[in-house]
Amino acid sequence: MIHSISLIAPRGNTISIKASGNAGPTLFLLHGFPLDHRMWLNQIEAFSKRFRVIVPELRGFGGSTVDNQYSFADLAADIELVRKHLAANEKINMIGLSMGGYVCFEYWRQHGRELNKLVLANTKPNADDEVTQRARLIMAEKALSEGSWAAAASMMDRLLPKHCRGTVLEDQMREMMAAAAPEAVAKAQHAMAQRADFGELLSSIQTETLVITGELDVIAPPDPTRQWTSQIPHSQYCEFSNAGHMTTMEVPDQFNEAVLKFLS
Ligand code: MLT
Repeated sequence: MIHSISLIAPRGNTISIKASGNAGPTLFLLHGFPLDHRMWLNQIEAFSKRFRVIVPELRGFGGSTVDNQYSFADLAADIELVRKHLAANEKINMIGLSMGGYVCFEYWRQHGRELNKLVLANTKPNADDEVTQRARLIMAEKALSEGSWAAAASMMDRLLPKHCRGTVLEDQMREMMAAAAPEAVAKAQHAMAQRADFGELLSSIQTETLVITGELDVIAPPDPTRQWTSQIPHSQYCEFSNAGHMTTMEVPDQFNEAVLKFLS
């Protein structure tokens, strides 16, 4: 069963949280852009048999609200607030996919001592180059003027590989992307464009880390992902063949098996 919890952050924003499972260590799942907790439904079901699964929704997405422009440091502070309320006395495990992974890097920098194990899925440690930053600001404007789906539709080619297009997976993705508030899309794009570069810090991550990507992921492709993984001292690399960016949804059984093996 999935429970809904709301926390009010100090500035008055609501942080929406889905929680499942009553026993075992705590496992946080951080979603990608422009999505919400639903991208983790397969994992919530599988992991809650062995973990207390906590799925906070990032500012503006799902049931969470957004006010002013924020940074990834603010998102990490939101996650720490949730930890203090729901898992104050233990080290937590954390999985972040793509944008959720960017939050994990920032959380590690600020609160690494609270982490037990880390899973970085379909993500990257590097800040954006100028071309990517410009494209993000264009998408932000378009979301505000034409709506979230109009702005984000063109991402689908990069989110899902060809063999997943036109399937129920694409319908599920479209539903989440269209449901995202335009303000959430715009503010997340601004925050991603400004996010810090963690490339130089990889060798100081002492947390045991599993890095996952898909053979066909064009946002976090295998070669660079394998390369940066090797810079994290206690790391493992896992690549799923014939999968793209949304490994949690495309190959849920393989994803869950790899993560459970790593966490156990
Ligand atoms: C995501 O899946 O979260 C996004 O593709 C991340 C990004 O736009 O860099």
